[in-house]
Amino acid sequence: MSESTAPPVSVADHGAIRVITVNRPDKLNALNGATLDALHQAFDAAADEAAVRVIVLTGAGAKAFVAGADIAEMNTLTPVEGRDFSLRGTRMMRRVERMTKPVIAMVNGFALGGGLELAMCCHLRVAADTARLGQPEINLGLIPGFGGTQRLLRLAGRAATLELCLVGAPIDAQRALQLGIVNRVVPAAELEAQTMALAEQLANAAPLALRGMIDCVNIGGECGIEEGLEYESVQFGLVFSTQDMREGTAAFLERRKPAFRGE
Ligand code: COA
Repeated sequence: MSESTAPPVSVADHGAIRVITVNRPDKLNALNGATLDALHQAFDAAADEAAVRVIVLTGAGAKAFVAGADIAEMNTLTPVEGRDFSLRGTRMMRRVERMTKPVIAMVNGFALGGGLELAMCCHLRVAADTARLGQPEINLGLIPGFGGTQRLLRLAGRAATLELCLVGAPIDAQRALQLGIVNRVVPAAELEAQTMALAEQLANAAPLALRGMIDCVNIGGECGIEEGLEYESVQFGLVFSTQDMREGTAAFLERRKPAFRGE
């Protein structure tokens, strides 16, 4: 069967929530070069559009979030091309991780290899109870190439990282929850509703405060405690320049719901 010519990534808005969907269901949403680039563009656009407050990232079809980097495309790569493919994916994933609006991975099925790497770049992960996650590259004679060894290490620690990468066997969503790899596990039938409810909650929160916290966590994960604490104090000071901070504290004192405008 020839592959669909539909764009590899689709985008839909639900109010202030942008849903970005990897759209290669007949290849279980495997990440080829074109899909990596389309995702990068989709995240650039979501970053630039003020009306977008939260991003939900998912995969098309009932089976997979993303089943990895595209094995057919990788099969013929030279070492130099392999390195370039890794850099291309790594650049895109860094873009996702460095988004200043919250990004939620809605893990609707297999999140393997590059799929787990992509999910780990998101700020939060909600998984269906049917999802399976892993770094199975060893079965292909490969290693993770989009940051998997590094992000899994920071997310779940050395023992879990070495087990997932060296053994290569996928784990179920409950085990991923125990290891801290996903934030929530929900029944598959409720995945979309529960993820969108979480996204809605974040869409109503103060955007500049969300941004400050994402920045603090991103920076803090990559520097020493002194620098991280200093950075948090600077960000804390900065939110005092926002209207939203005045609104949030006033609303508390006036016993009403705040209305945050991102100002
Ligand atoms: N790259 C390219 N194509 C992939 C893919 C990947 N990572 N994962 C799945 N596909 C393709 C299959 O080749 C198949 O295409 P075809 O119908 O043209 O033959 C299609 O997606 C469906 O996959 P299939 O293997 O038939 O589904 P399954 O339900 O039997 O198995 C998986 C599902 C996820 C267990 C299996 O597809 C798999 O192991 N995929 C590779 C996972 C992996 O190693 N990822 C890391 C890559 S570095």
